[in-house]
Amino acid sequence: VKILSIETSCDETAIAILECTGGLEKPVFNVLGNVLVSQIDIHKEFGGVVPMLAKREHEKNLPVLLDQVAKKVCLDTERLNVDLIVVTSGPGLEPALWAGITFAEALGKKHDIPVRAVNHMEGHILSVLYENNQAIEFPALALLVSGGHTEIVSVKGFGDYEILGRTLDDAVGEAFDKVARILGLPYPGGPLIGELARMDRIKHILPTFTFTMPMLHSKDLNFSYSGLKTAVLYKVRSMEALTDTTREEIARAFEDAAIGILIEKTKRALTNHEAKTLIVGGGVSANNYLREKLSELGKEFTEITLLLPKKEVSTDNAIMIGIAGYIEYLRNPDRDETLTANGNLSL
Ligand code: KG4
Ligand code: ZN
Repeated sequence: VKILSIETSCDETAIAILECTGGLEKPVFNVLGNVLVSQIDIHKEFGGVVPMLAKREHEKNLPVLLDQVAKKVCLDTERLNVDLIVVTSGPGLEPALWAGITFAEALGKKHDIPVRAVNHMEGHILSVLYENNQAIEFPALALLVSGGHTEIVSVKGFGDYEILGRTLDDAVGEAFDKVARILGLPYPGGPLIGELARMDRIKHILPTFTFTMPMLHSKDLNFSYSGLKTAVLYKVRSMEALTDTTREEIARAFEDAAIGILIEKTKRALTNHEAKTLIVGGGVSANNYLREKLSELGKEFTEITLLLPKKEVSTDNAIMIGIAGYIEYLRNPDRDETLTANGNLSL
C-alpha cells in the first residue's frame, strides 16, 4: 500500500510518502519521500507556539511540501498515484490540525483517494517500527514523552491502548522548554537543557544541588511537572546572577529530577504490569540522558525488549503518521469516517 501522510498538529508541517508492506505480522516501511518544515523561528519570539499563526503557516507550507515530495517520488502532482491519504486529527492545536485535515480532504477529493484520520500519539508509539527489524511483542508498555503529553500506556495489541498514568499538569517536554526559558534560552529549549546538563556531568561527578522528584511517593503512575518548574524558578531567583556554570548546574539538577521520575514510574509500571516490550516515544525520547537511563533500566529487566525510535522520527514527523495509518488500515480496511480535528483526542 502506498500512503501519503500529513502531520500538522503543532509547529511542524510534514508530508511523507511510504510504501508499506508485510502486514501486521511484519510491517516494513519504505520511505519514498519525506519533507518537513519547522516553524520554530516564527514562534520563537512569542516563547511558544501560537495556534492561529501555526495554522496560517501550515496552509502556506502544505502545497509547497506536496510539490517537493511529489517531485522527489516522481509523482505527477496532477495525478497523485497513492492508495491512501492519512492525516493527524489529534491531539494537538485544533486550528493547526484543521489545516492538515482540510488540505488532506481537498487532495483526496481531487484525486479520488480515500482519506483517514490518525491519532498523533499512536504515531509516536508506532514510530519505533521505523527502520527496525524487531517486531513489537505484545503485551507492551509505552512511555510517551512529548511537548504535550507524558503518559504510560498499556499496549495489548495494535489499536488496543489503555492509559495507566499521565501528567496531572505540564508535560515533561513542556517542563524542559519552560526551564530553558527561565534560564534565558531560546524556544524550544529541551535539547539545549540536555546539552547544559551533560556539560555539568562532565565537570562534576556529583550534582551541586538537587530538586525533589515530583510524585515519587504517589503510588500511581501519574506525573506532575509544574512544581518542579516552580522549584527551578525559585532557585534561579535565589541566585545572584545566572552564569554559564549555574545554568549548567540547574539544567543538570532539573534533568536528574525530570528524567529520574520517568525512570522510577516506568520501573513501577514494568514491575506491576506484564510486558514483553517497552516502547518509548515522543520528542523527549531524543534526550540522551533518558536513553542512557533506559538502557540501564533494560539491564534490570532483561526479559523486556526496549524499543526506541530512531532520532529522526523522535520528534514530530509524517513518517510515524504514515506508519500508524498503515497499521490502522490493515486493522480496519473499510473504515469510512468524517474527519474532525480533536485537540484532546485520547488514545
Ligand atoms: O513529540 P514532539 O516533537 O512534539 C509534541 O508532540 O509535543 O516533542 C517536542 C518536545 C519539546 O518540548 C522539546 O523541547 C522536547 O520534545 N525535546 C527534548 C529533546 N528533543 C526534543 N527534550 C529534551 N531533550 C531533548 N534532546
Ligand atoms: Zn508529537
